[in-house]
Amino acid sequence: MSPIKCIGLLTSGGDAPGMNAAIRAVTRSAIYNGMTVKGIYRGYKGLITGEIVEFKTQNVSNIIQRGGTILKTARCMEFKTPEGRKLAYENIVKEQIDALVTIGGDGTLSGARIFAQEYNIPVVGLPGTIDNDLFGTDVTIGYDTALNTIMECVDKIRDTASAHERLFFIEVMGRDAGFLALNGALASGAEAAIIPEISTEKDQLSEMIEQGIRKSKNSSIVLVAESEITGGAMGIAERVKKEYPDFDVRVTILGHLQRGGSPSAQDRIMATRMGAAAIDALLEDQRNVMIGIQNEQIVYVPFSKAIRNEKAINRDLLNVLRITSS
Ligand code: F6P
Repeated sequence: MSPIKCIGLLTSGGDAPGMNAAIRAVTRSAIYNGMTVKGIYRGYKGLITGEIVEFKTQNVSNIIQRGGTILKTARCMEFKTPEGRKLAYENIVKEQIDALVTIGGDGTLSGARIFAQEYNIPVVGLPGTIDNDLFGTDVTIGYDTALNTIMECVDKIRDTASAHERLFFIEVMGRDAGFLALNGALASGAEAAIIPEISTEKDQLSEMIEQGIRKSKNSSIVLVAESEITGGAMGIAERVKKEYPDFDVRVTILGHLQRGGSPSAQDRIMATRMGAAAIDALLEDQRNVMIGIQNEQIVYVPFSKAIRNEKAINRDLLNVLRITSS
């Protein structure tokens, strides 16, 4: 019999499509294994203020297809302080929660890690972020849906880009990672991607123009990863206006629409597998690990590795993009 009788479940940080599928899987797997589930609203904020409600199997009915998170989410500054975490722990004791399952990105896992160290409570994390920037997992929950959204948007922008023979810079999310920009460019047949991972190594804009981005084409689309390092789509477009005034340039920032929508089949399946694996991990006495997927297999990644290591982008894909868009 597992010593864990009750788990607390929360989503934190930026929402990602598939979080609800993960909530459903964690809840049902926990109940299947005889545990009680307490849903914590608004991430760490709700843990501090005590917004905690018992979740039964019907609480998670009819949510697998919904974007956002039924538990709501927040970016909680108070949890970054020892005083905030103390209040959170008091609610853990009050609610008789034996372990936590947290769903979110880098900030969520960092919070989980420090909390687990301070209060010796088992925590398992699920990687929920559209950015795909967590080390130790091939993909994160929400990334595939966001990529599909980007692809659909670029397909539409291409119509007008082509009609007006313009150069479009389309900014996509990713915090400081270029996964959405690079793979979004491959999926939509964009001419290039400007990503933070190589921004300090070379001037991607001048290289792109020198390679004759529009030699044989009358319109071009370039995906730019949001980041101070790339300068974002606005920054790049300003440069083009000054340095290459012949181009008719436009900018589109896709913004938060990338975070919405019904999760793709892949995100639902992955979130479901990872959610069930979180309960398996607790039953196996694992603690302070993130559930990851590597080569289709579930893996346990220590928080220290998932957070600290920078996940490398596959640079070969830049070459594939360059060749296939030439
Ligand atoms: O981490 C997910 C993410 O969508 C990033 O891609 C983006 O930089 C950030 O969150 C935006 O955060 P917020 O919704 O708080 O503005």
